[in-house]
Amino acid sequence: MSTPLLTVQNLRKLYSRGTGSVGLDGVSFSVAAGETVALVGESGSGKTTCARLLTRLIEAEGGAVQFGGVDWLAMRGEALRHARGRLQMVFQDPIAAFNPRASLRRLLSDPFRLQGLGRQEIAARVRDAFQEVGLPDTLLDRLPHEVSGGQRQRVAIARALASKPELLILDEPVSALDVSVRAQILNLLRRLQRDRGCGYLFISHDLAVVRAIADRILVLHQGRIVEEGDTETVLADPRHPYTQSLIAAVPRLIEPGRTHHDG
Ligand SMILES: Nc1ncnc2c1ncn2[C@@H]1O[C@H](COP(=O)(O)OP(=O)(O)OP(=O)(O)O)[C@@H](O)[C@H]1O
Ligand SMILES: [Mg+2]
Repeated sequence: MSTPLLTVQNLRKLYSRGTGSVGLDGVSFSVAAGETVALVGESGSGKTTCARLLTRLIEAEGGAVQFGGVDWLAMRGEALRHARGRLQMVFQDPIAAFNPRASLRRLLSDPFRLQGLGRQEIAARVRDAFQEVGLPDTLLDRLPHEVSGGQRQRVAIARALASKPELLILDEPVSALDVSVRAQILNLLRRLQRDRGCGYLFISHDLAVVRAIADRILVLHQGRIVEEGDTETVLADPRHPYTQSLIAAVPRLIEPGRTHHDG
């Protein structure tokens, strides 16, 4: 197999809590180009901590990350600023991350402006980006709170893709959406991955969603990976008691005859 896009080794960041600690307690995994790896686990298991470490929003206490051939945790200053576009993140509800007074056009222009493009080029790229995620031009002058949650998530995805990332970290990207919109966004993500070939680290506590999108699953429990494998294998034949309990909580999942290509 070729070198993975992302290789995480023994990544650690602990927060003290009472007499013990919580956070991320030494996790190792890899993501290949074009692959979707799901990080699953209950609330507080360390999923977002992992995302924040990889996006360099917080500093690791230990461990190593190779991303796209570079020592990712050693990147600093200007080099890191330049490289940030290669690894982008999408949050559960982007409303908190978006400037509430900026139109969608403006929000989508920002990454292209950072790339130093001219006005006309930016306008064209914004229209293309909107189209790529299935949004009509007529929404361009709306503010974030003037569109639906699903439309907002499409904008967040378009914005994340503007810098042509090799890896997208999606932290519960469909958890705030209702079921039909959720399916549309998952389809969009699958299509974008086919078109662009970028890797996804897909964080979710929802095994039905994970089943619909992931090639592989990592099961995080109290800051450690307790099980990993192909999605279908892990869901059909979980080895760790914690994974078994996660699956037992969603009885629909063990119905036979569904494949992960179902809507
Ligand atoms: N900045 C912080 N200071 C102290 N504790 C923190 C901090 N960030 C996270 N934690 C703790 O670390 C643990 C893991 O948090 P994290 O946000 O990674 O969980 P999660 O798996 O994303 O959960 P959820 O599914 O609820 O989003 C939790 O117990 C959380 O309270
Ligand atoms: Mg979280």
